[in-house]
Amino acid sequence: MEIIEKITVMQETSEKWRRDGVLIVLVPTMGFLHEGHVELLRVGRQKGDRLIMSLFVNPAQFGPQEDYQTYPSDTEGDLEKARSVGVDAVFMPTAQEMYPDRSQTTVNVEEITQYLCGESRPGHFAGVTTVVAKLFNITKPHLAIFGEKDYQQLVVIKQMVRDLDMDIDVVGVPTVREQDGLAMSSRNNYLSAEERVSALSLKKGLDLASALVATGEKNAGKIKNSVRELILNHPFTEIDYITICDPEKLTDIERVDGPCLLALAVRVGKARLIDNIILREH
Ligand code: PAF
Repeated sequence: MEIIEKITVMQETSEKWRRDGVLIVLVPTMGFLHEGHVELLRVGRQKGDRLIMSLFVNPAQFGPQEDYQTYPSDTEGDLEKARSVGVDAVFMPTAQEMYPDRSQTTVNVEEITQYLCGESRPGHFAGVTTVVAKLFNITKPHLAIFGEKDYQQLVVIKQMVRDLDMDIDVVGVPTVREQDGLAMSSRNNYLSAEERVSALSLKKGLDLASALVATGEKNAGKIKNSVRELILNHPFTEIDYITICDPEKLTDIERVDGPCLLALAVRVGKARLIDNIILREH
C-alpha cells in the first residue's frame, strides 16, 4: 500500500493508472475509521481495480466553535484497516499542502446546502464540496464512494458533480449500525456511557416514524412531533432539527405521499449526531 502525502505524486500515480486503463475508486475519509468506513472501502475494493483512500481532516468544513482541534485521530489504526481491506494508496496530505496560502477558490452548491445541517453549520458544505472537488482533481477517480449516513452531503456532492460536469460516478453506501442500532460515527467517541444510551433515541425516533407511516399516518407535522417527544424523553438530548423533506430537493414536505427523507440532528452531550431514513408509505 502506497502512502502519499504530496499532491503531485498522487496525481502522477493516478495518471499512470489511468494510462494503464484501470478503474480508479476513491473513498474520501477524515480518518478515525470505524466499521462504516471499512464497509465503504470494501464496496470500493469490489467496484474498482485501484482503490484510493484519502485521509484528511478538512479544516474548511468546521465552524469556529466546532471540533476541528479535537477531532479524534488514529493514523496507525487507520492505515492498518486500509491495508487489511486491500487499499492501493492512501492520500494523506497536510493542511498546508491542501490549502497553500495563495488559495482563493471555493466550490459552493447554492440551494440544497441551505437546509438541514446547512442551517446550523453555515459554510460547512462549501468546505466539503471544495475539498471533495480538490480530492477529485488530485486522485482522478472514475468512481467515488460516500456513506448514506451523511445523506445531505451525498446529495450535495451528486449535485456538484452534475453541475460541474465531473466525469465521476458517485455511489452511496447504506449506513452501518452498531448492534443496538446506533449509526456508526467517529463522533460517537465523545459519548459517555449514559449519553450513549440516550444516543439510541435517534434510531428509535426513525423507527417510530416508520411505524407511524406503516399504520397510515401521512401528516409530516404529527410524525415529527412524535419523534421530537420520543427524543426529548431521553436525558442529555437537544434537538437541532427534525425534517421530513423531498429526498433530492431537500425541501420540506407536509404529507408523506411518496418516498421522503426523515433526517435529524441531535446534540447528545458534546456530540452532534445525525441519522436519517427514507419513509415509504405502504
Ligand atoms: O464525510 C466525511 O468524512 C467528509 O465530509 C469528507 C467527505 C471526507 C470530506 O472531508
